[in-house]
Amino acid sequence: MRLPGTRRPCVYFWETGDHKNRGGAALKISNYGLLIREILDGFQLDHRGIHGTAHWMRVRTNGLRLAEMNGANTKVIQLFAIFHDSRRLNDGGDPRHGERGAALAYEFWQAGKIDLDDSEFRLLEQACCDHTHGGTQPGDVTVATCWDADRLDLERVGITPDPQYLCTDEAGQPQMLDWATNRSNVWVDRYCRYW
Ligand SMILES: [Fe+2]
Ligand SMILES: [Fe+2]
Repeated sequence: MRLPGTRRPCVYFWETGDHKNRGGAALKISNYGLLIREILDGFQLDHRGIHGTAHWMRVRTNGLRLAEMNGANTKVIQLFAIFHDSRRLNDGGDPRHGERGAALAYEFWQAGKIDLDDSEFRLLEQACCDHTHGGTQPGDVTVATCWDADRLDLERVGITPDPQYLCTDEAGQPQMLDWATNRSNVWVDRYCRYW
């Protein structure tokens, strides 16, 4: 996608700072909006739907809130939020969509549009590829946090998140479950009433 006023593909920058900021403020991605616009350029579904941008943003917020408690990598979480469902072909069963989201992230990474070191990219890749069938013990707190951030938004499709299927203790706390499911329900009440 060529954005107005750009002559070559955008290069995305991170604000400097310690992204492994246990307990601190989340690292901001200065041009997150542009990155989303470019991802949406190839999005096959209704961006207002159950796997659309509102879901992406709730996943981001859920993940950042969990990261404040467990120190997960906020850069990877924020990228997982916008890539993991970005190449779905339908809103139902689409078992390879995580791999396609990871493949898109790889394209962006190779093009220098997202700034991750090798180990961070591997986490993003694992988080995207296996987010639907990876179980509850991925072996890394950042991947676990990505998956829980996604699962905490299941209420939007009528499934109440069950701590049994979450990866982290933080996500299974009653306060966290209530907060996340309430946010999902607010979206359903506002935007899905006439579906
Ligand atoms: Fe997904
Ligand atoms: Fe998702």
